[in-house]
Amino acid sequence: MNRLKFGVTTGLILICGLLIKCSDYQGDLINNVGVSQINITVPEGFPKVVPSKDNPLTEEGVALGRKLFFDPILSKNNNVSCGSCHLQSMSFSDNRKLSVGTNGENTKFHSMPLFNMAWMNEFFWNGRAKSREEQALKPVVNPLEMDLSWPEAVARLQEDSDYPFLFNLAFGTFQIDSILVAKALVQFEMTLISSNSKYDRFKRGEQAFTLEEEYGYTIFNTEMGDCFHCHMDNGLVTDNGFHNNGLDNDADLKPGLFEVTDNPDDFGRFKTPTLRNLIFTAPYMHDGRFETIDQVIDFYSDSVQVNQTVDVLMKKAHQGGLGLKPDQKAALKAFLLTMTDSTILTNPAYQNPN
Ligand code: HEC
Ligand code: HEC
Repeated sequence: MNRLKFGVTTGLILICGLLIKCSDYQGDLINNVGVSQINITVPEGFPKVVPSKDNPLTEEGVALGRKLFFDPILSKNNNVSCGSCHLQSMSFSDNRKLSVGTNGENTKFHSMPLFNMAWMNEFFWNGRAKSREEQALKPVVNPLEMDLSWPEAVARLQEDSDYPFLFNLAFGTFQIDSILVAKALVQFEMTLISSNSKYDRFKRGEQAFTLEEEYGYTIFNTEMGDCFHCHMDNGLVTDNGFHNNGLDNDADLKPGLFEVTDNPDDFGRFKTPTLRNLIFTAPYMHDGRFETIDQVIDFYSDSVQVNQTVDVLMKKAHQGGLGLKPDQKAALKAFLLTMTDSTILTNPAYQNPN
């Protein structure tokens, strides 16, 4: 039945191509440059985009990626999509400490929020994916996430009544493969941008901070809080680097980046997360150990652990943390909350289209 529909659709497109002379249009598709290219607008104050290789954004590619992102067809039991663990209502993160995959098992780590990925070049808490496209190939085959082999995933898409047609629109071929699936997913991810918070408007000179928020901003950006070394005040609020922020003593320290590099200096280093949209992304840290922003601030203030590889930028680690007073903690929290951009939750272009 599906094949029949697919055949009919294909036939109609070919006839259309001949009859109404849309040969230029077809040519574009075959050259894989897409029919309607999109450029990412860099928000004021943001750094330069990290471009993808051979994957220019098109409206057709983004639409296909969005459909795939929310489609459980990519999971073994047809019950889990990317969007099950990266929920729009949570800024594309998950409020569960650990997420649950297609077989009902927990993921190893807490889910990460997905936005401003156009400015990132290493992915996962331990940095094991070195490009967006490499990352996008991994959840499908991960036994704790979607647990489907790529040949099976591709076969399912190929037999679907819509997908071959949509891949042709986006990439000029009815022949689906894992690389094209990853490219489409990445195109959708590239459009998830968060740059519309009070923090952004403050930086653009459009809106003032309250005195408390301003004090918190000062704590953040001076040796009082020292947050800015890793959570850079660059719009993204991360250096996209890997650090050991002193969560655990040596006995409990998890390997982190060491799993990828085998370098003992990297033991316990994890990817610096952005601090945008924290209000939506609890719980916090790679294992989701803190449920509230207050708990995170208490940690940096009062219970930083000195372990073998704790970062030199955690300057007050040897005294257990920053030792913030209650009014300083409150101010820091007030500032962190200025980075709330609720448009990411309501933007219709980011919603499940299925
Ligand atoms: C079962 C839950 C689950 C599913 C399904 C899932 N993810 Fe994730 N995702 C996670 C978790 C957990 C992490 C962090 C894991 C880690 O670091 O090892 C993560 C990390 C990521 C990251 C890294 C973000 C960063 O800042 O480094 C990206 C990108 C991502 N996922 C995209 C996807 C896409 C695309 C899909 C669908 C093909 C998907 N995920 C499916 C749970 C899930
Ligand atoms: C040495 C670098 C460094 C410094 C300095 C630092 N952080 Fe972090 N921060 C990290 C890393 C790395 C993580 C993730 C750690 C993990 O999960 O193992 C993190 C995680 C967080 C999280 C959790 C975010 C999430 O999505 O899970 C918050 C909130 C946070 N930091 C706030 C702050 C604040 C506030 C300050 C200043 C008081 C600060 N950080 C200073 C590196 C740093």
